[in-house]
Amino acid sequence: MMVESGPVVDRGLEGVVVGSTDLSNVEGAVGRLTYRGYDIHELAPAASFEEVLHLMLFGELPDPRQLSGLNSRLWSKRALPQEIIAAMRAVPKTAWPMDVLRTMVSALALYTPVRADGTHPSNPDAALDLIAKAPTIVAAWNRIRRGLEPIDPRTDLTTAANFLYMCSGEVPKAQAREALDTYLVLLVDHSYNASTFAARVTASTRADIYCGVTSAIATLEGDLHGGAPGKVMEMILEIDAPERAEAYVRDVLGRGEKIMGMGHREYKTRDPRAQHLEEMAQRLGEVSDPKWYRIARALEDASSKVLQEEKPGKNIYANVEFYTAPTLYSLGLRPDEFTCMFACGRMVGWTAHILEQLANNRLIRPKAAYSGPPVHPLKPIAERGHAMNGNGTA
Ligand code: COA
Repeated sequence: MMVESGPVVDRGLEGVVVGSTDLSNVEGAVGRLTYRGYDIHELAPAASFEEVLHLMLFGELPDPRQLSGLNSRLWSKRALPQEIIAAMRAVPKTAWPMDVLRTMVSALALYTPVRADGTHPSNPDAALDLIAKAPTIVAAWNRIRRGLEPIDPRTDLTTAANFLYMCSGEVPKAQAREALDTYLVLLVDHSYNASTFAARVTASTRADIYCGVTSAIATLEGDLHGGAPGKVMEMILEIDAPERAEAYVRDVLGRGEKIMGMGHREYKTRDPRAQHLEEMAQRLGEVSDPKWYRIARALEDASSKVLQEEKPGKNIYANVEFYTAPTLYSLGLRPDEFTCMFACGRMVGWTAHILEQLANNRLIRPKAAYSGPPVHPLKPIAERGHAMNGNGTA
């Protein structure tokens, strides 16, 4: 906490409770994450992304009939309007995938029903539309940027399997589709993280669900939030051998920089999601290339050791982004696409939070402590500023 000209200012809102939610709970001191009361350690190995989606949007885990109904609704919404595909073809091939995702999700609003006042209905159907279409956008850009034709979504595959199919044209093996499914489950929600808070602030003005989600994607992009895993992979690629990890860490910290994928505002333990991601990265590495997992493991060990020496008592451990990097890399994604995958999972949380906000809405509008000059009189323009030269410039 910092005191500025009187009022107490909580920089970064650390520890400030700004609202309530039924959706998820982060217990940072003990390293526990729950979705509507279910521990992530129970959900990750046992529940599919679609089951968790049902839990978050409709309040309970589905029975088989509900799951089948949900799948039909998702399948019917996967395909993109042709205008969106045409817009993606017109984008420079060098465009960053997150910029494309943010722009195209915003553009989806142009092709959905609109009310007389220009807003779109914010309801579970619109949420499902966004959840179903986001992976189609990411996969289409994965191909268009490589000069390939986008592949139409299938209506007989899970979200994870269909995404991998739309990237490669092949139905993925069980290990790959299950790993991506678990990844998506782990990323579904995380209480009032920065992007979710942005979504709720936007929704609180009564802007619609497309506006809220576009704000959220924009907020996710930075590397203090969802932009970190691509940078983790860049570190792993640069380190190139496990035995070089410690020297690399010392060098980064010596320059006063942070180790990406380490540290968390809420967790003072290892992020509970990291355990599942680490196991997946290891298993996927055994059938593709074990090198990336081994370097990641050495990097985590070295970072923990050096950070304990240099920043004792700060409790800086691996967060969700750390093992996301070798996991998604082993699944064939490029580092600059990792944050888009995060967005595909978190779309569930964002939309659920927006609907929760709207169900009991009040404008979110905090105060700021003013730190500018005191009130002083306005001078006529002729009496202001520096001495002028003959040209009237200072
Ligand atoms: N590497 C090195 N030092 C770190 C660190 C990291 N990854 N994360 C935190 N620290 C240190 C800070 O330097 C600071 O030390 P100081 O008090 O000596 O100045 C202290 O720990 C507190 O860090 P701060 O950035 O103020 O904490 P925060 O709660 O505002 O930030 C993160 C949390 C996640 C933004 C931060 O840990 C971070 O930048 N991590 C790397 C980026 C990342 O992985 N982002 C994804 C998050 S899921």
